Amino acid sequence: CGIVGYIGSRPAQDVVVEGLRRLEYRGYDSAGIALVDDGALATRKRAGKLANLEKLVAEEPLPAASLGIGHTRWATHGAPNDVNAHPHVGASRRVALVHNGIIENFADLRARLEADDHVLVSETDTETVAHLLELQVESGEDLTTAMQRVCAMLDGAFTLVAVDAHDPDRVVAARRNSPLVVGLGEGENFLGSDVAAFIEHTREALELGQDQVVTLTRDGVDVTGFDGRPAEATQFHVDWDLSAAEKDGHDWFMRKEIFEQPRAVADSLLGRRTRSGALQLDEMRLSDQELRDIDKIIIIAAGTSFYAGMVAKYAIEHWCRIPVEVELSSEFRYRDPILDYSTLVVAISQSGETADTLQAIRHARSQRSKVLAICNTNGSTIPRESDAVIYTHAGPEIGVASTKGFLTQLVACYLLALYLAQVKGTRYGDEITQVMEQLEAVPDQIEAVLGRCEQVYELARTHVGTRSVLFLGRHAGYPVALEGALKLKELAYLHAEGFAAGELKHGPIALVEEGLPVLCVVPPRGRDQLHGKMLSGIQEVRARGAVTICLAEEGDATITPYADVLIPLPRVPVLLQPLVAVVPLQLFACELASAMGHDVDQPRNLAKSVTVE
Ligand code: G6P
Repeated sequence: CGIVGYIGSRPAQDVVVEGLRRLEYRGYDSAGIALVDDGALATRKRAGKLANLEKLVAEEPLPAASLGIGHTRWATHGAPNDVNAHPHVGASRRVALVHNGIIENFADLRARLEADDHVLVSETDTETVAHLLELQVESGEDLTTAMQRVCAMLDGAFTLVAVDAHDPDRVVAARRNSPLVVGLGEGENFLGSDVAAFIEHTREALELGQDQVVTLTRDGVDVTGFDGRPAEATQFHVDWDLSAAEKDGHDWFMRKEIFEQPRAVADSLLGRRTRSGALQLDEMRLSDQELRDIDKIIIIAAGTSFYAGMVAKYAIEHWCRIPVEVELSSEFRYRDPILDYSTLVVAISQSGETADTLQAIRHARSQRSKVLAICNTNGSTIPRESDAVIYTHAGPEIGVASTKGFLTQLVACYLLALYLAQVKGTRYGDEITQVMEQLEAVPDQIEAVLGRCEQVYELARTHVGTRSVLFLGRHAGYPVALEGALKLKELAYLHAEGFAAGELKHGPIALVEEGLPVLCVVPPRGRDQLHGKMLSGIQEVRARGAVTICLAEEGDATITPYADVLIPLPRVPVLLQPLVAVVPLQLFACELASAMGHDVDQPRNLAKSVTVE
């Protein structure tokens, strides 16, 4: 779901369509545009990809206009068809509106409109708001006041952007719990769900606060609260440029981002140690005493970020001896979790906008718990509403399936664990320094894995047509198995399952049949018995006909007799192994999906940031 708004002197159609293209990565299933020209609205919208909308605009050209809004929709209320696509207009086609989020009280509002003889043509909550806005402007209010009044009637999470055909000099937007940023230009201004929408035009941006209405004219930007009182918004400079949002010769953003991982990991480790070698975290904002008082940690996250949280549990419990629970954001709030001031809630979110995670941290804070966010997006809602932040420095992640986002989250989790160990004194400086050095060696080790990508690509291509794939792991390799399976589901639309290898004999082994590919993440050889136990699991599936594809430490000869395919991994301690072991699994899913002819960057039905619960 993406939103774009423009007012200036250039052809609005070009700016809006280009902005939508830059937001395509967020995931969507229909697209639309509205322009204001000569006292009238011109709208076009289509189900499917942006190309469908562009085809329609080519067949039915839009007038030249310098004011417009656009939208890519990820369906919530009503199917992704032409009628439900945005923009929506009021009864007399004077106001056009695009919207992200969900209006929770829309059924009541719609019933009231229908009782007053309004005819609503779509199944969306958005159309109801378009009618309400239009009623306000028709009663003589300007669009800004109309927006303030209507927002005060709405429950739920929303970003709204509207134009009024009778007012060619303003675009008005509002936000509550849903992302929206303003791009500041010269004689022109922009709106976008994120800065990618306008980064080619300006790198100066304004971050809007909660419950704010913003009015864009060609020469200025005015921000108020829903109550109409003047409000402050924070200006910031975007420190990445357009090339970060382009593919750089790769066929997919995802592939580019996989190859950016050595850099992303190195950047996320940068500046974390003082000269004396102690760990420092810039935006920790929790005092040592507050951290020492913590007696329980709950990690909340969704999707891939949840698996980073599972790895964090192994690291924090091992190094800090604090009990850690890991929970899906969407489940957390509803089970009445036990929280108090001595609980630290760690929210992991690449985008910083995932609605499930946002609501979960609000619940945690209402119970007096401290919240620390691990996030990749500066200025997004989750870190803004948290007590402390560890930013990952992956740069913009465009591919819907997270890759470098995941690796940098792992880095942040290790840093957090080591920092807690330092503060609590559960580990000595030497040991912390040693782990930091091991982490600092990881970028080169990932580079080595990437250097062998051809082996994985070839393997992936031989699996076109495979119907089902299993992934096995133990210890920190278990979340890696889950992430490997998730990547295949997301990209190749294959049935894929990750299991803890020890659990195999308690059920999943029944799935094994002749020829089933089983990818096994083999723990490094160590003093624990993990490695040996994993070998037994591999033998058990192989004995039942599985094709075993083993990711194992290079030079590990014990695995050779049981591996139909062997993918070598660099030598790293078991806790850090996810950083290198997940990379071949990302390459495998990317190549397999690509070979199957799927759109790797925008898999069907998925969105990059899910801003609805
Ligand atoms: C969506 C994305 C996933 C992502 C998850 C959590 O479902 O498609 O790739 O892992 O959200 O996103 P977050 O931004 O909170 O890490």
